[in-house]
Amino acid sequence: MAEPLVVVAATANTHKLDEMRAIFGDAVELLPRPDALAEVVEDADTFVGNARLKAIAVAEHTGHVALADDSGLEVDALDGEPGVQSAYYGGGDHDDAANRARLVRELAGVAAPRTARFRTVIVLRWPDGREVVANGTCEGQIIDVERGEQGFGYDPLFVPDDGDGRTFGEHSPQEKNAMSHRSRACRNLLEQLD
Ligand code: IMP
Repeated sequence: MAEPLVVVAATANTHKLDEMRAIFGDAVELLPRPDALAEVVEDADTFVGNARLKAIAVAEHTGHVALADDSGLEVDALDGEPGVQSAYYGGGDHDDAANRARLVRELAGVAAPRTARFRTVIVLRWPDGREVVANGTCEGQIIDVERGEQGFGYDPLFVPDDGDGRTFGEHSPQEKNAMSHRSRACRNLLEQLD
């Protein structure tokens, strides 16, 4: 069997690491973000730009292949917002409840279907500057009354098109992983590495 590709992740979020490891299987050994690495300022105006900033920081710090992902929600009626601002949309820093409250306010009066998608971009970057960029999306609709306690972020307001009418907040982690933007980006990365 081929040796796994050893990769250092730009995230220390165990939820994300577990989700990605489940998809990568034996092909990629994913190490968590080193504690000593300073926080990276994500000030690019695209998902790929922010993922690249994080991947470069990890590759330079460790001298290893680095993997960084950046995700967010794009709502068509809001011209793609919150987009790269998804984590800060409500005014705080990763304040999920405030982010959802603003989304509901912005969409008040907008008729259904309020089409939207979650998007993940992954940048896999070698210390010599080579990189592979992978994408994953999950299409759905935004409702205006939250449902479900699971997941995080905008999950209680997002009904995936590939599901049965429940929000992501009403999906188990396994059910969500089967169709999530992040898992699709991981699969897209594996396809490209093949
Ligand atoms: P990150 O780049 O994965 O940290 O995501 C940035 C922001 O996008 C999060 O703070 C959430 O607001 C939103 N987001 C990303 N992925 C998801 C998801 O799977 N469910 C709900 N919200 C998400």
